[in-house]
Amino acid sequence: MFGLKAKSKKVVLDKIPRHIGIIMDGNGRWAKKRLKPRVFGHKAGMEALQEVTIAASELGVKVLTVYAFSTENWSRPQDEVSFIMDLPVTFFDKYVPILHENNVKVQMIGETHRLPEETLNALNAAIEKTRRNTGLILNFALNYGGRAEITSAVRLIAQDVLDAKLNPGDVTEDLIANYLMTDHLPYLYRDPDLIIRTSGELRLSNFLPWQSAYSELYFTSVLWPDFKKAELLKAIGEYNRRHRRFGGV
Ligand code: FPP
Repeated sequence: MFGLKAKSKKVVLDKIPRHIGIIMDGNGRWAKKRLKPRVFGHKAGMEALQEVTIAASELGVKVLTVYAFSTENWSRPQDEVSFIMDLPVTFFDKYVPILHENNVKVQMIGETHRLPEETLNALNAAIEKTRRNTGLILNFALNYGGRAEITSAVRLIAQDVLDAKLNPGDVTEDLIANYLMTDHLPYLYRDPDLIIRTSGELRLSNFLPWQSAYSELYFTSVLWPDFKKAELLKAIGEYNRRHRRFGGV
């Protein structure tokens, strides 16, 4: 057992979640409170992400999956969508070397075909640069939607049955997991142990619906740009007070 100080309160951290999913919400409200445009909140959100990634890596978390852009987010004003899509282009020059120094490996899930070319190039460059790193996997969910992910898995399985590569009886939970976008993650860490959502909203919004079946959920009213290391420690402290039974007693 070891303890870490979060602000003045001691947080006991026996168990570190191996995979944490984060729904980074509240950037717009954070900016509005400061009478700034919404994009100001996304920029601050990117900085919070950097701090939380390094803190998670130091704590020994294996995978951090962050909901950066959902398939529904395209309906936002064009300027805002462009700003978010430009974040990897603008920030990664400064951000990726720090991740690399910390042995972080960048990966992503989502439908890449609709992403602007420069966004995809910046992400692929980060993935390539950090390919051999063995520390925390920072998994960006970008243009990701959970139902679309499951739909695509069902389609691929149906095709494999049609091509006689599979029998319907071969379709197990494990097999389905192999057709999901998280199949590139280490087998033991594919499903999040803990999902955090900031900004007071109490829902998962199509984030990892299959993989979250047994995840512990942590909701906080803190807006994402204010979610820093101390808040991460609080969430992990709360996770340590939960008893995960996976349907048992
Ligand atoms: C939700 O806040 C936040 C987002 C939709 C985008 C968050 C993205 C990042 C912080 C980093 C993105 C990184 C990459 C690689 C693109 P909101 O705008 O819904 O806030 P609100 O609910 O207060 O309006």
